[in-house]
Amino acid sequence: MSVTRMPATLPASEATRKLAPDTLFPLRPACPAREARIRMKIFIAGHQGMVGAALVRRLGREPGVTLLLRDRAALDLASQTAVEKFYATEKPDTAIIAAARVGGIHANSAYPAEFIYSNLIIATNTIHGAWQAGVKRLLFLGSSCIYPKHAPQPMPEDCLLTGPLEPTNEAYAVAKIAGLKLAQFYRQQYGVAFHSAMPTNLYGPGDNYHPQNSHVLPALIRRFHAAREAGLAEVVAWGSGTPRREFLHVDDLADACAFLLTLNNPPDLINLGTGTDVTIRELTETVADVTGFKGRVTWDTTKPDGTPRKLMDVSKLSALGWRAKTALRDGIEQTYASYLAEKAAGTLRE
Ligand SMILES: NC(=O)c1ccc[n+]([C@@H]2O[C@H](COP(=O)([O-])OP(=O)(O)OC[C@H]3O[C@@H](n4cnc5c(N)ncnc54)[C@H](OP(=O)(O)O)[C@@H]3O)[C@@H](O)[C@H]2O)c1
Repeated sequence: MSVTRMPATLPASEATRKLAPDTLFPLRPACPAREARIRMKIFIAGHQGMVGAALVRRLGREPGVTLLLRDRAALDLASQTAVEKFYATEKPDTAIIAAARVGGIHANSAYPAEFIYSNLIIATNTIHGAWQAGVKRLLFLGSSCIYPKHAPQPMPEDCLLTGPLEPTNEAYAVAKIAGLKLAQFYRQQYGVAFHSAMPTNLYGPGDNYHPQNSHVLPALIRRFHAAREAGLAEVVAWGSGTPRREFLHVDDLADACAFLLTLNNPPDLINLGTGTDVTIRELTETVADVTGFKGRVTWDTTKPDGTPRKLMDVSKLSALGWRAKTALRDGIEQTYASYLAEKAAGTLRE
């Protein structure tokens, strides 16, 4: 299913995605033996982002579900009045907060005031507004940067607030921690099923390929694709290649979110990842191979390596019965195909 881009001028009713009404959205674990027929109106905040678009693809397959989608021009989540009016008019059953001001190290360190303000106000408006309007369920998405810089590896949920944050993204992390605490305290005080999930590094269709501002995997795809096109004999990669990182395909992330929404008593906070990591060297070699780059990769060890390891502890998620399906190599192949298609269509984010 393709993602619908909603122009600002559409009336609310037309900007509501209707899905076939009669299929099933199973409730687990309360009804393990039978599938319960339910109708749900789900608001996906940030549906045009990489995560939001994957949620649209995944939840769009759930018949009986109506997706409420608004782009920023139609609904600025920084406006409390607009958000309250939207919730009061549309009355979603469920909200998923996948909207955020997101950026790489450079943007996070250069604009910390904007990062903390935007992300705090999005969290406050979407969570408080949902409670006011009687939204029964809300899933708030954060990121692994909420955990302390020197968290144990793999990082369990209970290491939250046990040490200082990584200074380069502290503003973003503090806003995300505030968001998850809002959800937790509204649940505690008002009994609403508001809960949060913290995804690891994500990749997939709709990623950001900005030359300075992208994450490591899209940056590698861009770089090796360009090197292959230019017929370069060598690509110089930064650091030793030994740091280890975890990557989750965004479609698996969306499936994990759909799974969490079926739980009657979801954890307040849960990590979403694969539970496995690769070295940057392995990742680089895979991207080089997938993009068809035939030259040499050399490592400039005078450049910094960053944190040696960042891996989520996903034992809570595994115990609930969910695991990721996409092997990293397959996911990179699919992502490279999307990169080429988005480039050809002129829709690549860069
Ligand atoms: N990407 C990752 O690797 C990753 C990893 C872990 C967690 N996450 C989390 O997943 C969530 C989504 O990330 P993403 O990668 O999908 O980011 P993204 O691609 O940048 O999407 C963010 C979306 O939020 C929208 N948005 C921002 N401010 C808004 C506002 N004031 N009003 C309305 N819409 C607004 C953006 O709209 P515009 O297009 O108009 O700006 C965009 O559609 C974030 O909470 C992030 O922390 C992402």
